[in-house]
Amino acid sequence: MSMDSPFKSDILKGKVALLTGGGSGIGLEISTQFGKHGASIAIMGRRRNVLDAAVSALQSLGITAVGFEGDVRKREDARRVVEATVKHFGKLDILVNAAAGNFLVAAEDLSPNGFKTVMDIDAVGTFTMCHEALKYLKKDAPGRNSSTGGFILNISATLHYTASWYQIHVSAAKAAVDALTRNLALEWGTDYDIRVNGIAPGPIGDTAGMSKLVPQEINNKIKDYMPLYKVGDKWDIAMAAVYLASDAGKYINGMTMPVDGGLWLSRPRH
Ligand code: HXC
Repeated sequence: MSMDSPFKSDILKGKVALLTGGGSGIGLEISTQFGKHGASIAIMGRRRNVLDAAVSALQSLGITAVGFEGDVRKREDARRVVEATVKHFGKLDILVNAAAGNFLVAAEDLSPNGFKTVMDIDAVGTFTMCHEALKYLKKDAPGRNSSTGGFILNISATLHYTASWYQIHVSAAKAAVDALTRNLALEWGTDYDIRVNGIAPGPIGDTAGMSKLVPQEINNKIKDYMPLYKVGDKWDIAMAAVYLASDAGKYINGMTMPVDGGLWLSRPRH
């Protein structure tokens, strides 16, 4: 469900945003809402057909958008896509790390390479993208000449706040992502005035995460043991992203904001 935005349509005017995983799911909704609020959009993903469909959808809304093929696990892809974005739009203001890998598997059945694969996409991929983008996010980077540094948003999760069945690899990877958010906020906030924040979505309808990780029979029963369980909309995540990326969030740094309706706090009633 996509609702009207409560924000002014020009609050990201003139900004250039690069989003990994920006061609589908939550990443695409953030691309869309950033675009609707005035940003130009570059999306990075592994599948050309998905990128092309997303760029067409964005352009049909009047959004300036381009798609670059690449895998966040490959440093050369990260560098090429960051540089292509700057070449195309003249600068970079916002990096969103929304690319993620996931599957349900018992720890006992997960191979070390399966564990590493998700760590590589979510954690190492996020670090690599941040690292390659840094020089373009500085205040005095080419094309920016801004009084403030750029902005990084990392999409995380809440499952590592406690423990989650069959997601040891994702829990470890998202815990690492949250650590990256805090440490980069400290170092790059201090040195370059770059803000680094995260969003930890709860269960969000119409996403791969939801269909892969929460089978329908569990979705029907889950309210019995999680009283606050309520499926959110991709729009909810995108609105939080718009807020954090805009000047309204200028004093927020190093925070990962759960956007889950309070779900992670849930305890059965007794
Ligand atoms: C067990 C698996 C597996 C599975 C892969 N592996 N899928 N192990 N169960 N279902 C293991 C393989 O056996 C292999 O280890 C290793 O992982 C690498 O597998 P590949 O298939 O070569 O990897 P690759 O083709 O790169 O695929 C990456 C992927 C894939 C992560 C495995 O699922 C993917 O890219 N999915 C698309 C992205 C996605 O799912 N997005 C939704 C994110 S939702 P061995 O030892 O055999 O070599 C999300 C929500 C998080 O992130 C928050 C939740 C609350």
